[in-house]
Amino acid sequence: MTVQIAPSILSADFAALGEAIAAAERGGADLIHVDVMDGHFVPNITIGPPVVKSIKRIAKVPLDVHLMIEEPDRYLEAFVEAGASMLSVHVEVLPHLHRTVHAIKALGARAGVVLNPSTPVAALSEMAADVDYVLVMSVNPGFGGQTFIPRSESKVREVRALLDRAGNRAPIEIDGGIDRHNVARVVAAGASIIVAGSAVFHGGDPERATRELKAAALAAASVPR
Ligand code: DX5
Ligand code: ZN
Repeated sequence: MTVQIAPSILSADFAALGEAIAAAERGGADLIHVDVMDGHFVPNITIGPPVVKSIKRIAKVPLDVHLMIEEPDRYLEAFVEAGASMLSVHVEVLPHLHRTVHAIKALGARAGVVLNPSTPVAALSEMAADVDYVLVMSVNPGFGGQTFIPRSESKVREVRALLDRAGNRAPIEIDGGIDRHNVARVVAAGASIIVAGSAVFHGGDPERATRELKAAALAAASVPR
């Protein structure tokens, strides 16, 4: 299994995003995770398409954009035009998830579906064959620096089983409270896209933190199962 590391710039210094992204990339970041929050679906407010567009100009790796917003359909095109290669939406806000997933694909981006900690895996069952990836939230979305919710580990296994039954090899992304100490557990459970914000950007050396997280994730992925 291959594992990708996606540092979340939510925990970076927004006045120095270019340097933060470059450091993460030097450390081996495979993607840059961009958290978009609207102050409605989640309590926090972050950034929109203009900032994604600026980041796209300097990032060497693809942008993984996580939409924590109500009515995401209104903004899909703007985020893909701004440079999102991967665009994920929350199942909790979408009565017509099938339409939204296929709209993202039609725009040329990979379509991800996100489950909050309290959302059952069954919410995905009708869409298991359609998604390009599934993002399992391992904290309640809205802020960086929260504690990993242990139940998320078995939830990743349940999502893997659901995707496998649908014949879909789509990867599982995990987001929230991941660091180099617990990453092996979630990789062993089947997560292969690892988001980390505070673990990468709060220690003063994002290049090294990314490298260490990636080494721990790759070591876990190479254990035969
Ligand atoms: C939380 C965001 C996360 C956040 C993760 O709502 O979706 O991407 O940046 O931060 P850490 O890794 O600090 O939990
Ligand atoms: Zn996120």
